[in-house]
Amino acid sequence: HSQDEECQQRIIAAKEKLGKKLVILGHHYQGEGVYRHADYTGDSLKLSRYAAEVDAQYIVFLGVHFMAEVADILSRPDQIAILPDLAAGCSMADMANLAKVERSYRELNKVLDFDETITPLTYINSAADLKAFCGEHGGIVCTSTNATKMLEWSFARREKVLFFPDQNLGRWSGHKMGIPLEQMPVWDPDQPMGGLTEEEIKNAKILLWKGHCAVHQMFRPQNIIKFRNEHPDGIVISHPEAPFEVCLQSDYVGSTEYILKTVREAPAGTRWLVGTELNLVNRLAEEMKPQGKTVQFMSHVVCECSTMARIDPQHLAWTLENLAEGNVVNQIKVPENEAKLAILALQRMLDAS
Ligand code: 13P
Ligand code: SF4
Repeated sequence: HSQDEECQQRIIAAKEKLGKKLVILGHHYQGEGVYRHADYTGDSLKLSRYAAEVDAQYIVFLGVHFMAEVADILSRPDQIAILPDLAAGCSMADMANLAKVERSYRELNKVLDFDETITPLTYINSAADLKAFCGEHGGIVCTSTNATKMLEWSFARREKVLFFPDQNLGRWSGHKMGIPLEQMPVWDPDQPMGGLTEEEIKNAKILLWKGHCAVHQMFRPQNIIKFRNEHPDGIVISHPEAPFEVCLQSDYVGSTEYILKTVREAPAGTRWLVGTELNLVNRLAEEMKPQGKTVQFMSHVVCECSTMARIDPQHLAWTLENLAEGNVVNQIKVPENEAKLAILALQRMLDAS
């Protein structure tokens, strides 16, 4: 305990020493021990906007690798993006890579006769080279907040979308637009032609990359049924990375920022079942207690994002102390040629949302 306390004091001291040179951006899934030190908190969309606007020399990102990459791409060349633990990746982002996306896009275009039929649309949870691919091929990036809008943007230009890497976000967003499930087949990049027939491809509106989030995948419709039996007045809210059946049975579905806003603005005395990462739910439950609102986690198993959790107070203290001494550690630097193309796709999103 005293060690934890000492670590907290080290973070505070280094932060003070760095002053305006430093800004800390924190995602809602971060543990309290580091989250409390963030200057700005938010979901992926909000944090990418902050990254584009802040003035500090060092942008320390409490989140995962792709987020720090976005901070690097959207910030000025003289600003430095830093991730306190380089092993903080995202298993969903790793489910797509450039070689597979390039091959899939080539195969699809062969069936579809000409190049301008399909838009590549990547969820922000993806490596920078995939954002660059979208930038180069007339595609765009989306977050969980604006996925439907970015699909609309795509359909205004071309007739089909290759959506990667999260099939659940793609399916839910397409469903909200009224696209039937038959027109949103799963594209398995490890099979020839995605495991689909030519007819299925020609009939498709959205090809859903076979990827998912291991954390949100754990939520089950049974969790909701049980909650509704016990609490008929209870309200259910989920993140769109959750399985389709979970989203269908929820009262509200939206990004982490949307979940926080909806529960915060709800009347006193309401009871909520929340289907997203555990750190967010625990923090929200504490915050809502004084207002008499009850916030319950959706699963009986622990669903913490293990890579988000890598950013712990020890890593943050080490990072900030080094920066205070003038040593830049764990810089995330996207190669210039990649960044130039990725920013096209990111800027299209920021302009359209
Ligand atoms: P949002 O913060 O955009 O809702 O995304 C959730 C997530 O899984 C980030 O990794
Ligand atoms: Fe990736 Fe899922 Fe963790 Fe978000 S919660 S960072 S999508 S593994």
